[in-house]
Amino acid sequence: MNKRKILILLMTVFALSLYSQVNIIPKPTSIVEKESVFIVGNNIIINVIADDPALVDMVKPLLFTLSEKKADGVFKIKFNSNSKLNNIVFQIDSKLTNLGDEGYHLSVTPKNIHISANKKAGLFYALQSLLQLIPNETKTSKDIKIPCVEITDIPKFQWRGMLLDCGRHFMDKTFVKRYIDLLAYYKMNRLHWHLTEDQGWRIKIKKYPKLTEIGAWRTEADGSRYGGFYTQDDIREIVSYAAEKFVTIIPEIEMPGHSVAAIAAYPYLSCTGKQIDVETQWGVFKDIYCAGNDSTFTFIKDVLTEVMALFPSKYIHIGGDEAPKFRWEHCEKCQNRIKTENLNGEHGLQSWFIGQIDAFLQQNNRKLIGWDEILEGGLSKGASVQSWRGMEGAIEAARSGHDAIVSPTSHAYFDYDISSINLEKVYSFDPVPKELNTAEQTHILGGECNLWSEHAPQEKVDSRIFPRMLAMSEVLWTYPKERDFTAFRKRVQQQYPVLNAMGVTYGFERDPLVLNTKTDIDKKEISISMEKGQEGTEIFYTLDGTKPDRKSMLYTTPIIAHDSLKINIAVLANASENGYYYERAFKMNKATGYIPLLKTPYAKSYAANGDGSLTDGILGTNNFRDGNWQGFEGEDMVATIDLGKLIEFTNISCGFLQSTPSWIFFPPETEFLVSEDGVNYTSAGKVNAPESPKNVELQTRRYQISFPIKTKARYIRVAAKNMGVCPDWHPGAGGKTWIFADEIIVE
Ligand code: ACM
Ligand code: ZN
Repeated sequence: MNKRKILILLMTVFALSLYSQVNIIPKPTSIVEKESVFIVGNNIIINVIADDPALVDMVKPLLFTLSEKKADGVFKIKFNSNSKLNNIVFQIDSKLTNLGDEGYHLSVTPKNIHISANKKAGLFYALQSLLQLIPNETKTSKDIKIPCVEITDIPKFQWRGMLLDCGRHFMDKTFVKRYIDLLAYYKMNRLHWHLTEDQGWRIKIKKYPKLTEIGAWRTEADGSRYGGFYTQDDIREIVSYAAEKFVTIIPEIEMPGHSVAAIAAYPYLSCTGKQIDVETQWGVFKDIYCAGNDSTFTFIKDVLTEVMALFPSKYIHIGGDEAPKFRWEHCEKCQNRIKTENLNGEHGLQSWFIGQIDAFLQQNNRKLIGWDEILEGGLSKGASVQSWRGMEGAIEAARSGHDAIVSPTSHAYFDYDISSINLEKVYSFDPVPKELNTAEQTHILGGECNLWSEHAPQEKVDSRIFPRMLAMSEVLWTYPKERDFTAFRKRVQQQYPVLNAMGVTYGFERDPLVLNTKTDIDKKEISISMEKGQEGTEIFYTLDGTKPDRKSMLYTTPIIAHDSLKINIAVLANASENGYYYERAFKMNKATGYIPLLKTPYAKSYAANGDGSLTDGILGTNNFRDGNWQGFEGEDMVATIDLGKLIEFTNISCGFLQSTPSWIFFPPETEFLVSEDGVNYTSAGKVNAPESPKNVELQTRRYQISFPIKTKARYIRVAAKNMGVCPDWHPGAGGKTWIFADEIIVE
């Protein structure tokens, strides 16, 4: 090899090694990487050119980071210095209007680093990118090498948020501030702060002291007291901290539902006026604010007045979701209101309720935002919508000229298990519904990831939010550039050391176990294959019901089920017994692999394994979100299977799950029918729910019909009745009930 070739080779290796150092998340709009570096020498002067000296403070984290990495360096920040010796320049340039409020240019050359932006937020985001360009691994080495790049970066969406539910679990002030830091580092700019819930009222309201004296505390089943709240000083401190990081806090004060804690403090706010306790169960509860009572509105307006004084945010979130209408239906005052205001029933009353609050917020020069239920009964004039039950709410809002943000359960609910929303799924999220035309699309302001905290007290929040938030940050910043998940994932790997350094106890990118099945109807077998969801793990299993360990069978090739098979699985990290344990049951039977025809479709949010889920041979577990339970909301489940030819059998069954706090009930009655021609069906019998539905424990039950002698049929139908709505005694009285079914078995 001649010298020239060696030089080219060396340069290529050098360039490649640099390439891996540019791992900015969210990915910049335009980035050109150069084959060179800026070397941070011993004397570095950072110059801030602007008319606001506060920007000097904003840039200080760079000083800290550089000093931390290069112990012998001398780093200084100057303000509006004219010297030619400045190495790193941050400049506000009001001519750069094309960059908007948040865009920036960042140029790293071997000689210097130059950053410019139209507005302060742009400089702030440039700083975050620069911090991400400083290699982690230089901590011990002498020189800090920053790869040369030319970046122009403008976010696609103005609303890049995260919801933190501090109602169900209180999170302390330091923790909330830490999340503001984390959001800002990944260029997110909205913290949607869920402050009031059935299980706790978290914001001090001076005019109504009992809200926090009583409403902030609950007595758990074991007698212990749980709670906490933010004083108005706490809130001012957090709001101003957030503002420094260009994070707007949108407070959410829930109404008319999710208000049990407020009613516990001031019972006159409800339809019954009865004393109730701050809730300890998770769910949706029928005691809501009375809409017929004028004093309800006095209360809410007083509360919002104090809230507006604390939060400068243009938007005030008023919830509006999951408000059962049961109390209103039975309340004289609410019914009177419907009459005097000439409203269209209880939905009309909800719409009128929100309208009152909308008008009040408008008078105060604020804007109302609420969950997509505020569309029911007609959307109030000034309202914006947060779409969560899919994207339909955003579509409807945008089409009627209202702004919307999106956080559908399918992609944005980070309280959901990684098995249902993994990193790749979040990354595939498209915030702009395809159904909208170009003009309507402008109403989609952006999106949020939501962290509901029923099962995520403070110490678990990191593992739910990370690494998924990295995907959300990129989705909301870069859209609609073509996404490359593989490349994104590589950049995510480079963030782990950073997250470690920040003390973030992140979770997984996907389920540690990915299980797939294939059914061969002719061979009458299910082939079960397993894939590791995490690198550095191994899969061990047993087939005799015992707990697997490292001495159990190591999974290498698919396992075949010919009849019933139960597999206990352990995914173990290398050289450790720490692991993830699963139990999965399979049942190859005469119906397996025949896709049923459904009279009413299953709910998209509980699709399980899709169209063939009821006959895929996979049984559900005691977790209704395990991906094997298919849900039917408010409607009967009627599934018809065509077995292709006359088949003999002695047994038909269907498995159901009940979890009444989640509005999932056993079908009160299920009829099994058979047919030879698919036209004339004969009833083979009916099975009733095993007991009164008042039991709150999660249970599963197989409804079964046995035939004394073998029966022949080609078509089998299972018709399960849905209760329809939650009964009067239920906390969600009047809400649509669910049927959850896992598998139809024919033997
Ligand atoms: C919601 O998840 N109830 C907005
Ligand atoms: Zn009422």
